[in-house]
Amino acid sequence: MNDVLYVNGGTPLHGEITVRGAKNFVSKAMVASVLGETPSVLSNVPQIRDVGVVSGLLALHGVGIEADPVAGVLRMDPTDVESAHVADIDAHAGASRIPILFCGPLLHRLGEAFIPDLGGCRIGDRPIDFHLEILRQFGATVEKLSSGIQLTAPRRLQGTKIALPYPSVGATEQLLLTAVRAEGITELSNAAIEPEIMDLIAVLQKMGAIISVDTDRVIRIEGVDRLVGYRHRALGDRIEAASWASAALATGGDVVVKGATQPEMMTFLNTFRKVGGQFDVREDGIRFFHPGGDLSPIVLETDVHPGFMTDWQQPLVVALTQAKGLSIVHETVYENRFGFTDALRGMGATIGVYKECLGGSPCRFGQRNFHHSAVVSGPTPLEAADIEVPDLRGGFSHLIAALAAKGTSTVRGIGLIDRGYEHFQDKLVALGADVSRA
Ligand code: EPU
Repeated sequence: MNDVLYVNGGTPLHGEITVRGAKNFVSKAMVASVLGETPSVLSNVPQIRDVGVVSGLLALHGVGIEADPVAGVLRMDPTDVESAHVADIDAHAGASRIPILFCGPLLHRLGEAFIPDLGGCRIGDRPIDFHLEILRQFGATVEKLSSGIQLTAPRRLQGTKIALPYPSVGATEQLLLTAVRAEGITELSNAAIEPEIMDLIAVLQKMGAIISVDTDRVIRIEGVDRLVGYRHRALGDRIEAASWASAALATGGDVVVKGATQPEMMTFLNTFRKVGGQFDVREDGIRFFHPGGDLSPIVLETDVHPGFMTDWQQPLVVALTQAKGLSIVHETVYENRFGFTDALRGMGATIGVYKECLGGSPCRFGQRNFHHSAVVSGPTPLEAADIEVPDLRGGFSHLIAALAAKGTSTVRGIGLIDRGYEHFQDKLVALGADVSRA
């Protein structure tokens, strides 16, 4: 089976790899191209499965796509955008969460949109109530069908004033992609302000949008009548960069991640340093390394930007199994992001998961029966195991554990990792890992 990777661990990762554009930005910038009257060109695009899924959806809606995957350049021509056949869209059901972001652009272009059932990682309930409420407030009619969601805009969408119950990344993007062509002014409070969102705002501004990011998570958009194509280079993938950094730390290695940038990773770098990892910021990337000696335990809470990203949590937890003492990790973004620790326990890690909000402020999940806090006790040697990849980041964390463990692990369902980590097997080999596909 091609979906199995054998990992003969115990060797520190050493060498240099490159990360390209951020998965969680590139897909959104691709959707934004639908809003333009002329073609857009996006560069620094990684070869990951999510890009393929969004390309497929764009093509179904009449967007002409020209891709140079090696150069990482995508040209998208939205001149002939059209409604896609429900059956064709449905073939993408469950493949990704991005389809929900097509709503605003399609409503502006065509007056209607159909969104299939969503996919994405199973790390919590991941509802779309904020998205649907936003679309309704702009004046769209939202009808839930058994196969997906049917939306119509009886007239031009109208700017509105919205406060998010929680600074959701996707809901903020939904609002941006809808408000830019709506009539009048839209004001969003409690917005997410992740760097990927700022890069999306930069793209929309290039297209002709008027967007201001005010203090205290308030974003104001003045709707315009037309937008044009953009030319943009995607910001680097700070989740992938942090994943490789954690792999370097967990294996006692030394990895230069070209394409990693300091401003977007400041919070991660602080934590990396507190655990005992060292880094060196260079012009073309960041070198992450284990300086020798003991790693230190930490108390960590995930949060929206500028806090410690939830997507950094899973890879770093593997490194924490090698720190001397008790670490506490409180996950406040997703209610169910510690499932991956089962496999780590099977490999010899000592990790307890708890329903209480440990080590920090109470969050939305306290008292609600979710195991969203973890206590990691280390250092514990890890042993090879037979593991099934649960989700994208959890899966990469399992890979890190297998790389740190003595012996040969069998990691199954490795295809999930292709969703967000470009050529990860080649990169592992470049870093000296002993891996092979079944
Ligand atoms: N939420 C709601 N209702 C909504 C939307 C969100 O309750 O309508 C809740 C979620 O259940 C969650 C919280 O709000 O508890 C935050 O979710 P958010 O909307 O911010 O997440 P997302 O937009 O679905 C993106 C990334 C995730 C990343 C999060 C947080 C993409 C495609 N996905 O998800 O990335 O973890 O923001 O930064 O951009 C990954 O790359 O592996 C990944 C899961």
